[in-house]
Amino acid sequence: MSERILVTSALPYANGPLHLGHLAGAYLPADLYTRFQRLKGKDIIHICGSDEHGVPITIAAEKEGITPQEVVDKYHAKFKETFEQIGIDFDYYGRTSSPVHKKTSQEFFKNLHDQGVFNKKMEEQLYDEDADMFLPDRYVKGTCPECGYGEAYGDQCEQCGSSLSPTELIDPISSITGNKPILKKTEHWYLPLGDFQQRLEEWIDSRKNWKPNVSGQCKSWLDSGLSDRAVTRDLTWGVPVPLPDAEGKVLYVWFDAPIGYISATKEWAEEKGDPELWKTYWQDEDTSLVHFIGKDNIVFHCIMFPAMLMQHGDYVLPENVPANEFLNLEGKKLSTSKGWAVWLEEYIEDFEPDLLRYVLGTTLPETKDSDFSWKDFQARINGELADILGNFIFRTTSFTQRFFDGKVPALENPTEKDLTALKAIEEQKEKINEAYTGYKFREAIAETMNLARIGNRYFTETEPWKSRKENPQACANTLYVCTQICGALSLLFQPVMPQKMHSLREQLGIPHNTTWEHINDHLVPADHLVADHEILFKKIEDDMVDREINKLEEKAKAAAPAADKFPPLKDVAEFDDFMALDLRAGKILAAEKVKKSNKLIQITVDLGFEKRTILSGIADFFKPDEIIGKSVSVVANLAPKKMMGIESNGMILMGEDSNGKLHFVTTDAEPGSPIT
Ligand code: 2FM
Ligand code: ZN
Repeated sequence: MSERILVTSALPYANGPLHLGHLAGAYLPADLYTRFQRLKGKDIIHICGSDEHGVPITIAAEKEGITPQEVVDKYHAKFKETFEQIGIDFDYYGRTSSPVHKKTSQEFFKNLHDQGVFNKKMEEQLYDEDADMFLPDRYVKGTCPECGYGEAYGDQCEQCGSSLSPTELIDPISSITGNKPILKKTEHWYLPLGDFQQRLEEWIDSRKNWKPNVSGQCKSWLDSGLSDRAVTRDLTWGVPVPLPDAEGKVLYVWFDAPIGYISATKEWAEEKGDPELWKTYWQDEDTSLVHFIGKDNIVFHCIMFPAMLMQHGDYVLPENVPANEFLNLEGKKLSTSKGWAVWLEEYIEDFEPDLLRYVLGTTLPETKDSDFSWKDFQARINGELADILGNFIFRTTSFTQRFFDGKVPALENPTEKDLTALKAIEEQKEKINEAYTGYKFREAIAETMNLARIGNRYFTETEPWKSRKENPQACANTLYVCTQICGALSLLFQPVMPQKMHSLREQLGIPHNTTWEHINDHLVPADHLVADHEILFKKIEDDMVDREINKLEEKAKAAAPAADKFPPLKDVAEFDDFMALDLRAGKILAAEKVKKSNKLIQITVDLGFEKRTILSGIADFFKPDEIIGKSVSVVANLAPKKMMGIESNGMILMGEDSNGKLHFVTTDAEPGSPIT
């Protein structure tokens, strides 16, 4: 790893707000890494920006009834603000609708075109005659040829996961007009990825320290053979293809978006007043380029963009692409369309950013999909940040305040135990360094918390509250050692919780320009004044996370189409099958809980002509007392069934709502009346 590092994180599509999945996939790891390397004194910049082209934007524009430009303006501004609030510290946050990007991506395309690298091909694509346009993959729906799912998209079936091309769909329909599209010829420029196969294989083989999930996915793409990929599209929204014979054509969004990293770096250099500086980061072999992305972006960053960079020839290739897997939410796949997401702009209204940075950092989907849950959020904040880290800092600083007038005492004649605790600083520092350098952020954070654990244990074991009277120097030594550990933590935790550690350093009087090399066992000198401070981490109460869980469930319910709220209809029943059932009106006369059963209530029902005992599994929803007197509907000719030693003679009809709650099917008819 060279001294100069260029970090990029995936440009988010400016078509909807940011959520936890975004943060866990690319932005938090990129920010942790950048802050760590900066602390180490590396020359590092973190570049990102909004991905403002492509079909997701035009779909959002149609949904919201505004223009694509209005969509991207709105989300670009929101993204900038949200990233800032969460503490994602970009050196530059650009956007792909900027003039610099248009020029840069057009020049890039032109460069490759002039080298004769593209194949120009005429192909048949789906065309909507009424809308007068070629249909992008996502604008076509039809039946999946693999599994028969009727709502498959032109690029993918979300039911069986197959990758599709629009022309493979059975009975395709245009999502714009609902018409059946026709096939029409159109000409496009293709990047012949097959020609890069060998170079890409050699390059990927030569990469060191790539995560197995990333190199594995690359190998599988390479093994199945690379084919031509169209780099232009028939669309009105995008960077126009800079050729005279390309009217109505724009660059494919995955061609222009990664070039967005370059354009944003140019804009950064411009802003710094040194317009040529971007070249140092993109064209000097001493720069390490690191792309932070989610796993769905691997092929574009490890195959397509490197092929483009190789062909262009002026640029460095990525040193590493530490892609993350996906983050689930409360055990379920995160889904924005199903409302199953925690939006960052909402999170920030309720909690501090550093809390999320810590919790998410400990659960990043680094090697496999991981899960975020509000209960775990609470458990980690209360059990780790408050009880371990916060408690250790509070014990140390308040003890120093109370018994040493806030002055760090001097270390004299330390015991073996004192020295071992001090040595832990260096040992943990080394482990943390290795973990960050190897993109193992979960491990880095766990090892940092381990230093707080060591400090806490040491404080407890040396019992300064006792030694204060019995052996004042031993007490002083404990406080000296603990203050050094607090000092080290204020820097070692800096990448994860920048705001909290800033306050801690203020409290400890550690200058903010202190760097990694200063982290040692004597960072806070004797006699140094430690300020009084309010508690760093407050506990999260149950009702706070319950509120978040409810919010999530409410949003999911609101987003669910009616068809998803209720179970699908059963197969058609013949009239005679229905007539075979004898349904009667009844009235509940008595009810009691069945002993040893959590669910069953034993009910006596008046059917007019007789009284019946019926067992009903409704104890989760009703207390026996409250159902007495209810007029209900009963399946009166069901074969008897024994449960918990009691014979049940019939069934009381219940309606189950979309929350799984049960309701009686009531009737005004007198008991015994047939229900037909
Ligand atoms: O998946 C996405 O959200 C894309 N907008 C990522 C683009 S990354 C880069 F190439 F710009
Ligand atoms: Zn399918």
